[in-house]
Amino acid sequence: MAHEKILVLDFGGQYNQLIARRVRENGVYCDLWPYDTDIKKIREYNPIGIIFTGGPNSVYEDGAPHIDPKILELGIPVLGICYGCQLIAYTLGGKVAHADIREYGRIEIEYRESQIFKTLKEHNICWMSHTDYVSEVPSGFQITAKTKTCPAAGFEDPKRKIYGIQFHPEVHHTAEGNKILRNFLYEVCGASGDWTMSNFVAEQVSLLREKLKGKKVLCAMSGGVDSAVAATLVHRAAGNNLTCVFVDHGLLRKGEAEEVVEVFRNKLGMNLIKADVRDRFLEKLKGVCEPEKKRKIIGEEFIKVFEAEAKKIGSVDYLVQGTIYPDVIESGKGASAVIKSHHNVGGLPSVVDFKEIVEPLRDLFKDEVRKVGTELGLPDSVVQRQPFPGPGLAIRIMGEVTEEKLQTLRDADYIFREEIAKAGLNQEVWQYFAVITSTYTVGVMGDARTYEPVIALRAVTSVDAMTADWAHIPYEVLERVSNRIVNEVAHANRIVYDITSKPPATIEWE
Ligand code: XMP
Repeated sequence: MAHEKILVLDFGGQYNQLIARRVRENGVYCDLWPYDTDIKKIREYNPIGIIFTGGPNSVYEDGAPHIDPKILELGIPVLGICYGCQLIAYTLGGKVAHADIREYGRIEIEYRESQIFKTLKEHNICWMSHTDYVSEVPSGFQITAKTKTCPAAGFEDPKRKIYGIQFHPEVHHTAEGNKILRNFLYEVCGASGDWTMSNFVAEQVSLLREKLKGKKVLCAMSGGVDSAVAATLVHRAAGNNLTCVFVDHGLLRKGEAEEVVEVFRNKLGMNLIKADVRDRFLEKLKGVCEPEKKRKIIGEEFIKVFEAEAKKIGSVDYLVQGTIYPDVIESGKGASAVIKSHHNVGGLPSVVDFKEIVEPLRDLFKDEVRKVGTELGLPDSVVQRQPFPGPGLAIRIMGEVTEEKLQTLRDADYIFREEIAKAGLNQEVWQYFAVITSTYTVGVMGDARTYEPVIALRAVTSVDAMTADWAHIPYEVLERVSNRIVNEVAHANRIVYDITSKPPATIEWE
């Protein structure tokens, strides 16, 4: 695909994927590559601009990541952010100094005339997170922004189209930060904005149509966003040559299994095989209390069921995988194919008789995958689905999994989800669900004593599930949820709310 491309060179900072996502949100395709990528490869990639990200090092440190200075001579516009700007100064003969105290948080900044600060308010707020700073800009450069402690918070050589900024425009806390990125993309690099999800769908469908013509294609549908969107995209191109296998292990939330059949088979007309193995999974999980053992059993059973279904179909040409760009980046160099390590698809390639893997979403970030799903006509309930663990409700029931507990959990969880949505919190909360604990407490219902497991509610905010905060759900919402659960759900007599962040807790309870 001949899109205009920005190359983001990764120096190991925490916001690196965010920079790439912001570039794409602004309608320009970009890739995130390691900082030591060979200059020959960069030239061949032919980007319209290069962004150096932040990173944890000091430029003078032993082993600090440096660049081939020739990158700055390619005539391609460069924007250095944080460590990236210090690197520009260091590489071109400026000076970087070490401050006694770290400058961190929202900081007042003063912008001067610059193409990248065009239309910005002169006195503004930016987000800083640094200890080193540029104390002397290289010759030929002019200073374009300063803060109280940072004399060269912005500097540039517009003739060479090289720009440095000490702060983070990609973070929401930098007021008008997106304008800076847009100015770099459109004013400096001359982008036209040809990266849109409707273009992506049109291109992919036409490419896939060519590639999959007359071929047999197989996809494991989990109900998750990635596999759903990948399958729908492939279906547009391959039609009935695509078979989707959905393993209903009985561990999905209320209404989800039915929805998979309704959306993909009934509405979209896909060739969907549903393997109803709910009893088999319950049987295998009988008496099992240890979380890792549950995970292992579920993973292995899933593979066995899928293998049996795939055997019925026979040899296929392509196996569809819902790999997305963060999986590719995290796998290392972004060049080789990765199979998601997600337990319930990870083992598939070894048991299915196929010739090649097709990964139509491997260039997309999660928010782009959702947009593609919407573009393809998938409902919000599928596209906006919150992350859900492969082992499903089995790891939200402490101790043994039984049908009775699954029923209670599904009903309680459904009420929680419904009330969160009604309160308009479903976008800002990352994950929210109910858990059945293994602690039994006494309650009173009418005149009778009850003795039931405590139900816990968990809701967290997060950006990547690596860390999370407990969500500050308003008391009134919690009250409604609690009242409804004890009134409407069998075996519910006590509800608690989990107020622990990750770390030290994890998001799931098992
Ligand atoms: P934790 O509980 O480790 O979860 O904080 C982080 C994220 O991963 C999800 N999760 C899983 N996903 N298989 C999965 O596919 C699993 O075994 C699993 N365990 C946790 C969890 O829902 C959260 O989004």
